[in-house]
Amino acid sequence: MNITVDRAGLGLLISAAGGTVDGIATVISELGADAVAAATVAELLYHADVPAGPDVTVEIGLRHGDDIFRYEVRVTPTDVRSQALGDTEVKADAAVVQDLTEVVRGLFGPRGAQSNATRVTRWGHLENPGAFDRPLPVYDVVRRLADALDRPYAIGLAELCVRYGSDKWGHHTYPRRYEQHFDRLRDQPLTVLEIGVGGFGDQQRGGASLDVWRRYFPRALVYGLDIVDKSHMSDQRVTVLQADQSSPADLARVLEVTGTPDIVIDDGSHVSAHLLASFAHLFPALRDGGLYVMEDLQTSYWPTFGGLAHTYDDPATSLGFLKTLVDGLHHEEIVGRTAAPADAHIGGLHFYHNLAFIEKEHNLDGGAPSWIPRGAR
Ligand SMILES: C[S@@+](CC[C@H](N)C(=O)[O-])C[C@H]1O[C@@H](n2cnc3c(N)ncnc32)[C@H](O)[C@@H]1O
Repeated sequence: MNITVDRAGLGLLISAAGGTVDGIATVISELGADAVAAATVAELLYHADVPAGPDVTVEIGLRHGDDIFRYEVRVTPTDVRSQALGDTEVKADAAVVQDLTEVVRGLFGPRGAQSNATRVTRWGHLENPGAFDRPLPVYDVVRRLADALDRPYAIGLAELCVRYGSDKWGHHTYPRRYEQHFDRLRDQPLTVLEIGVGGFGDQQRGGASLDVWRRYFPRALVYGLDIVDKSHMSDQRVTVLQADQSSPADLARVLEVTGTPDIVIDDGSHVSAHLLASFAHLFPALRDGGLYVMEDLQTSYWPTFGGLAHTYDDPATSLGFLKTLVDGLHHEEIVGRTAAPADAHIGGLHFYHNLAFIEKEHNLDGGAPSWIPRGAR
């Protein structure tokens, strides 16, 4: 796919999509209406899930001022493609025309911003009485395009994991936990970074969870890092970087690209020392109010992953370290504690089977009053 608006431009478009129509129009003009139209059609097709099937051609027109950017979506038994039409005339089975600003707001805006006041749908078969005998394949294609514009938040996380093949659902049942914490963030402009793209040494495999996040968070710029180079999996709103999660130098380079993350998910090597190294570097960079997630913490008990089978609170293991954060959360209450780096930034800790969420906040509200006796009675 051609990336038509770069990452910074997409960030601007996503922010504008939460604002006024005039604000959206200004950003469209800055980025170039033709480039935005191309990015918008790519995003529309991504959300529409049109399957290959009987031959159908739908014309999409995105109106912006006096201009109209025309695209053809062509479904065949083997694939689904789109291309810009320019002035070329096509005999389409249906045509859908809508204002570009409204489409941008629908696809990149927050929940509730979707509207279809400027949409006009025309069918190509109305003068053919025989076409009224049965539902036509074009109906389903247009229905999917319209749903993508009107209901981009409809799909749930477990369904996405199954669709894209992420093991977060199935053997693990992480989606219900993720939804508990992520639902309120779903329609915000976000920077999401996941450690571990998947597929291990096979450069062609992986990327499932990046697809999941891209779809679950319609307004996010999604980043994945992996020790294996999988950068060819980068796509609109997704950037894949090669980095070793245990290397501070690599993580510094990653942060230069991502800027301040809102969410970090560690689903990488699952080696305790690596989890700790990533947390030491990435948690300070997380925005206040952000979430840091660690998956597959059972490895904390497995020596093959640098864990310990018979000692549960050694801070060199992932869960042993996370237990120290419970004390960090209460650092202002503990007499004589030597402050740990994260103490003043732990807002909350949530533990589930093999999964932990750490909320970042200013943890500096002060302890209990000094006159309450704290020593031995
Ligand atoms: C469990 S898979 C990730 C699965 C993916 N997050 C998903 O849910 O679809 C773990 C990935 O971490 C990568 N990995 C292993 N060691 C790493 C390291 N030191 N730094 C970065 N990535 C690493 C592996 O190459 C592998 O692709």
